[in-house]
Amino acid sequence: MSIEGENCKWREDFPIETGADNYVTRREFTKFLVLASGATVVGNGYFVIRGMEQRRESFPVVEIASTDEISPGAVKLFHYPDADEPAILIRLASGDFVAYKQRCTHLSCPVHFSVDVNRIECPCHNGTFDAATGAVLAGPPPRPLPKILIRTEGEKIFAVGVAES
Ligand code: FES
Repeated sequence: MSIEGENCKWREDFPIETGADNYVTRREFTKFLVLASGATVVGNGYFVIRGMEQRRESFPVVEIASTDEISPGAVKLFHYPDADEPAILIRLASGDFVAYKQRCTHLSCPVHFSVDVNRIECPCHNGTFDAATGAVLAGPPPRPLPKILIRTEGEKIFAVGVAES
C-alpha cells in the first residue's frame, strides 16, 4: 500500500480533498455553533422557567383583610410574605385595593399612605410613590414599591405573591 495516490490508507480515513477542507471545517464549525447555541438556549430556558416556578411556589396565600373593614381612602397594615416584611393594603378612592411592601426602595424607611394627595410617602427623604401603581413620583427612591399581589374571593382579600419591581 502506498502513502501517495488514490488508494493509500489515509485517504480512506480523510476522504476530503485539500481544496475542500476549509469548506468542511467551516461547515463543521457552523454546525458546532448552532448546536452549542441551541443547547445554551434550551439550558437557559430551563433555568428561567424553573426559577419562575420556584418563585411562584414560594409565596404563601394569606388572608389579610375583608373588603368591608377598609373604607375608601383607608389602609390596613399587615406582614407578607413573613412576619419580618411589613406591607400596606390601601383602598383607593375608586374602591380598588392595592398592596405594597411598606419599605421604601431608597433606604427601607416605612412608607405611609397620604389620602389627601393620594400618594404613598416616605418621611425619611421625601420620596413619593403613586398610590395606584407604586411608581416613583419624586425623591430619591430608585425603583417603584414592590407590589403585593392580592386576590379577592367574596369578601376576603388574600395576599398571594410579590411582584418585585
Ligand atoms: S428612605 Fe425613603 S426616600 Fe429615602
